[in-house]
Amino acid sequence: MKIKSAEIVISAVKREQYPEEIPEIALCGRSNVGKSSVINMLVNMKKLARTSSSPGKTQTLNFYNINKQFHIVDLPGYGYARASKTNKEQWGKMIETYLTNRPNLLEILQLIDIRHKPSEQDKLMYEWVKSIGFKNIVIVTKLDKITRSQRQKHLNMIRNELKMGDNLLIPISSESREGKEALWEIISNIFKVNGHDFEGENNKK
Ligand code: GTP
Ligand code: MG
Repeated sequence: MKIKSAEIVISAVKREQYPEEIPEIALCGRSNVGKSSVINMLVNMKKLARTSSSPGKTQTLNFYNINKQFHIVDLPGYGYARASKTNKEQWGKMIETYLTNRPNLLEILQLIDIRHKPSEQDKLMYEWVKSIGFKNIVIVTKLDKITRSQRQKHLNMIRNELKMGDNLLIPISSESREGKEALWEIISNIFKVNGHDFEGENNKK
């Protein structure tokens, strides 16, 4: 995908704050799994989405507009142990309201760290995403953190734990940028099957 522009539209908390309903995908996953880093990698910018080595950095629904054509939405991470009970409840409500009230949301991509077995919350999220009618595409992050020889074993483990069948699973590293083009292809295809050939349009111009 050619990136002509990438900018934050709004950090939203409430439904009234959601921006215009253009085609949209969202990234969800445990806190610190690398959601914000993936957005930066995709748009070739270091600091569009704010990242942090301590979990709980993203606390709002952050809408990024790409090429004035579509949004990628960075969701706050779950499973942040130090968050208060009230915070966790608010998080749950904010995410649920968003994911179930957004007609232009085409897919939810769930991120899983290649080093770890999916947590109970990862599994619950996966099941819930499926139950509301999405395809369950999984991005496996931080590929650079394990050796090449260990990769397949970890990917199989994640696929089995989530009971993914032959659903799409895409391994990436925001650090080494491995998997970037493959991920863009998947994203372009999500738009394409929903009637938006952004890749084709951008290559023509
Ligand atoms: P929250 O906003 O807390 O939900 O976290 P997040 O999922 O947005 O994670 P973020 O992108 O902030 O990354 C968390 C930490 O992991 C940061 O220190 C990143 O630099 C690091 N990180 C993210 N992706 C990768 C990767 O592919 N490889 C390596 N080595 N580190 C990564
Ligand atoms: Mg984040």
